[in-house]
Amino acid sequence: MSTDSSDLIIRDMRAEDIAQVAEIHRKCFSDHVSLFSALHPKLARHLYARYVEELESLGKVLADPDSGKIVGFSAGTLKPGFHRRFLRSHFWMLLWYILLGLCSKPAVWKILARAIFIKDPFRSYRKNPLQFETTPPPGPVGYFMPIALDPDRRGRGNAVRLARALMDHFFDLGVVRIRGNKIDIHNIPSYKLFVEKLGWDCAVIENQCYIVWKDREDGKKLQESRNRRHHENEQWISRPMRLSEIKEVAELYIRCFPDRVNTALGKPYIERFCLQALLERQSAMVVIEDSFSNTIVAAAAGSLEPGFTLRFIKRNKCFFVCRFLLSFLKCPFIRKKVFQRIFFFGKKKNGSEFPKTDPQTGQTIPPGTHLNHLFVCVDPNWQQKGLGKRILSCFMETLFRMGARRIWGCVETTNVASLKLHAALGWKSRQTSDEWITVWADAPSQS
Ligand SMILES: CC(C)(COP(=O)(O)OP(=O)(O)OC[C@H]1O[C@@H](n2cnc3c(N)ncnc32)[C@H](O)[C@@H]1OP(=O)(O)O)[C@@H](O)C(=O)NCCC(=O)NCCS
Repeated sequence: MSTDSSDLIIRDMRAEDIAQVAEIHRKCFSDHVSLFSALHPKLARHLYARYVEELESLGKVLADPDSGKIVGFSAGTLKPGFHRRFLRSHFWMLLWYILLGLCSKPAVWKILARAIFIKDPFRSYRKNPLQFETTPPPGPVGYFMPIALDPDRRGRGNAVRLARALMDHFFDLGVVRIRGNKIDIHNIPSYKLFVEKLGWDCAVIENQCYIVWKDREDGKKLQESRNRRHHENEQWISRPMRLSEIKEVAELYIRCFPDRVNTALGKPYIERFCLQALLERQSAMVVIEDSFSNTIVAAAAGSLEPGFTLRFIKRNKCFFVCRFLLSFLKCPFIRKKVFQRIFFFGKKKNGSEFPKTDPQTGQTIPPGTHLNHLFVCVDPNWQQKGLGKRILSCFMETLFRMGARRIWGCVETTNVASLKLHAALGWKSRQTSDEWITVWADAPSQS
């Protein structure tokens, strides 16, 4: 019995979906148009794994919640050059399977010959999109890559829902324009979906393919709502951070934490740090905007999974080493920290930043169950006006909505303002070392 299309759910693509997603790709894109359908299935699986693993890329799937079967997917990226990056990271594997394919499949010859000998008008578009598109509003751009639906599930509004989910995700991150993939001039269903049903703008290049793009429509609405708020004297807007605000939030962080190691590592370091908090599916970054001046006055970040900094270092190894060496040479504070570490290495530490056992039940904390409250900060010009409570409540609400059962954080014993702030919102606390107090808050019970 087939599930009604309204029962199908849309959610983020996960590692365990990859095999099914790659299968749908191979079913929907013939081996005359896609090298990933013509070559070994393993390659398509590696390709789609990248959408899940890469911080800047995103994927959505349409799934049957009862059987777990994936019936469609859409994927995109915030960083152009997705296929080039894939080629670089899987060069030898790709080469091997292309050689195998050349031995056994005429379709592989055809695709390669087309790529080498026939001029693709989409390439000149990719090099200079503004030659063909209207001028975009200022801000970051997103790239809508493939969308595919199991042939049995087509024609019931599923494709529109799936595409909208990805578009909404892009726009929620603060993208101002989404660029589509090439649409062949003969691909009527794709044209209908993007242009007729979703209202994307479109241009034809050399009578061979369509290019499509969509701008965020809420620019005008946003201004109207700002004006209304202004009128109603509603100054503070708590909301998730947007991509375009990363620099501003990094500057705020530096103003609020002048003595932290992160600050000594420099603004580009904090920008990447904030980017990870924004883009990781298990993390969150919220801000308060002053709607009168359109500036960010407070921010907070956290993650459902511990080990945020370790993940950051793994993702940015070279960058981290360079920043670290640079600040080691430039900044006496970092040298002092490093020498302190080396000097005290091996000596028994007087406690730690994090308790080994649950302070309430006394039980050992199993790895992976505790959470990570990375930071909360309010612009020094706006402190002691209740904004700390506002941003921390918004942060707690966000993390609890994402599924957190408990949020853990640690505060320096000398940071009276932060300790008072957490206590004011009902966080419990316990001193775990001479320098640190662990704080935690539990999700409200469901009953
Ligand atoms: C901690 C911080 C976010 C508080 O922001 P805020 O906007 O001043 O906080 P609020 O106005 O909502 O006040 C919250 C509580 O803290 C108290 N408080 C705030 N600043 C204080 C200060 N300097 N000294 C004593 N108490 C202070 C307030 O009186 C209030 O307590 P109450 O509810 O019992 O009256 C802000 O001081 C900050 O950004 N500090 C630098 C960054 C930092 O240390 N972050 C925390 C570590 S992760």
